[in-house]
Amino acid sequence: MQLNLAILPGDGIGPEIVKVALDVTKAVAAKFGHTLTYEYALVGACAIDKTGSPYPDETHALCMKSDAVLFGAIGDPKYDNNPSAKVRPEQGLLKMRKDLGLFANIRPVSTFASLLHKSPLRADLVDGADFMCIRELTGGMYFGRPQGRSEDGNTAYDTCIYTREEVERILHLAYKFAGQRRKKVTVVDKANVIATSRLWRQIAQEIAPQYPDIETEYMFVDNAAMRIIQWPKSFDVLVTENLFGDILTDEASVITGSLGMLPSASIGIHTSVFEPIHGSYPQAAGKNIANPLATVLSAALMFEYAFNLKEEGALIREAVNASLEADFVTEDICAGGSAHSTTEVGEWLLRYIQEQPDCKTK
Ligand code: IPM
Ligand code: MG
Repeated sequence: MQLNLAILPGDGIGPEIVKVALDVTKAVAAKFGHTLTYEYALVGACAIDKTGSPYPDETHALCMKSDAVLFGAIGDPKYDNNPSAKVRPEQGLLKMRKDLGLFANIRPVSTFASLLHKSPLRADLVDGADFMCIRELTGGMYFGRPQGRSEDGNTAYDTCIYTREEVERILHLAYKFAGQRRKKVTVVDKANVIATSRLWRQIAQEIAPQYPDIETEYMFVDNAAMRIIQWPKSFDVLVTENLFGDILTDEASVITGSLGMLPSASIGIHTSVFEPIHGSYPQAAGKNIANPLATVLSAALMFEYAFNLKEEGALIREAVNASLEADFVTEDICAGGSAHSTTEVGEWLLRYIQEQPDCKTK
């Protein structure tokens, strides 16, 4: 199969972790006899520095003509500490999501036996937790207008807007995923207070009967935040709006032991984007210490979701598991032995993949 990728390393540790994920992707493509072509493009603070825009037109054009986008991270402290900056790296990510029509962000949360000791939760609570957060990604308060400040600068406002169409398509997607899993959907909202949440709940109640073999559970977001740490095993597919999903997925990610382990897939109308859920970790940039595994696991999701190549994705996951079992990992998740650098972990994964028998069947 022909795989054409857009590679967007972004800022901070982005280039280092994307390099590892791309090398792993190349090794897996070679192993299975696929032809890989790829081109790099700018996004985030580095794109602002070079072009003035955080998501330049050339980057969008490349994404549109590619089969999948492998994305690193964006963000730079020089913008974080300057609330009045007119152009911000995050705007690039939001524009990319909107322009590519990526209305669903899929964040699978599963635990790794060898990382249970790193979880802030008791091992018995978290062992075996395996759920999928589906976050609406192109609506809600992130995109609602008006947004801004009063003339005197002392009042600020955001607008949360959802349409029936936006809510329906993400809920149907959640039911589709639940049908392939343990057949339970938890709809998370704040319907006791917020009008958009009441629309979500009303539409969910209309849609649920269309999926009689799937259990539907409704939960307020504050309660969901509690349940994620109290009883993570009770979730199968959790679906929610943009801002709630942003917050809950950071929370959900650490129960697995490290934010550095969680991949994500953003899917929708045009080319899908695969990226780790963590940020650009500027303090670690250039030090060769960042954990590349969330990005490597994002490449596994890319094989599965963008190309429907399940075995390829499974081989990547197997390699990651083996590196965890061998404790050949970066400092954030190292059990006790000596920590390894980003590039050493990458080389270990490549060796593992290359040592597997050839699978050139397609
Ligand atoms: C994420 C990030 C982004 C978001 C930021 C960088 C704009 O936190 O992908 O979760 O809030 O969506
Ligand atoms: Mg976030």
